Amino acid sequence: MRKSSVETKKLIIISKSPKDTRSIGRSLGDILRANDILCLYGDLGSGKTCLTQGIAHGLGILEEEYVRSSTFVLFNEYRGGRIPLYHFDFFRIDKLDEIIDIGFEEYINNNGITVIEWADKFPGILPEKRLDIELLIDNLNTRKILISIPHPDKRYNNIFMSLKKSPRI
Ligand SMILES: Nc1ncnc2c1ncn2[C@@H]1O[C@H](COP(=O)(O)OP(=O)(O)OP(=O)(O)O)[C@@H](O)[C@H]1O
Ligand SMILES: [Mg+2]
Repeated sequence: MRKSSVETKKLIIISKSPKDTRSIGRSLGDILRANDILCLYGDLGSGKTCLTQGIAHGLGILEEEYVRSSTFVLFNEYRGGRIPLYHFDFFRIDKLDEIIDIGFEEYINNNGITVIEWADKFPGILPEKRLDIELLIDNLNTRKILISIPHPDKRYNNIFMSLKKSPRI
């Protein structure tokens, strides 16, 4: 039996520098719409935050707003772009309750774009409909970025197809 093409799709992008990764993020930021959810996976230093900076840039969030915020908090909200960006980092979160207390469920349905670093720490809380982005460290400056859709969905399929056509990728 043939599987639906949406299920089997995986986009593999090679990034050769932090600049490349930011540029991929920018392409995503250009495409994204309110209520889109992106889950990021990958080891320490694989480039999840770097990619998110690019997304912020693509949304028109000024670098000043981005650098002003702490990288060590569990959650940051950026309102200076064309759509709000809700940036979660589950790395330092020990209990699911902490995510609930921050207001995760409210944020993901609050007309912004949600990006979650270390999303695999709490797989049970992730919505089924989302874009998964895995970053793998190849060597010092090279990263393999794997983009996939865990559950077939029209909206995420559209993002996927737009990304494929993006001139920066
Ligand atoms: N191709 C690349 N893409 C992204 N980062 C790269 C690349 N090559 C080297 N780097 C370096 O890797 C590091 C990535 O850091 P970043 O904070 O984005 O990772 P992270 O996945 O968010 O880590 P953490 O899990 O600690 O939050 C930076 O120091 C960056 O300069
Ligand atoms: Mg990070």
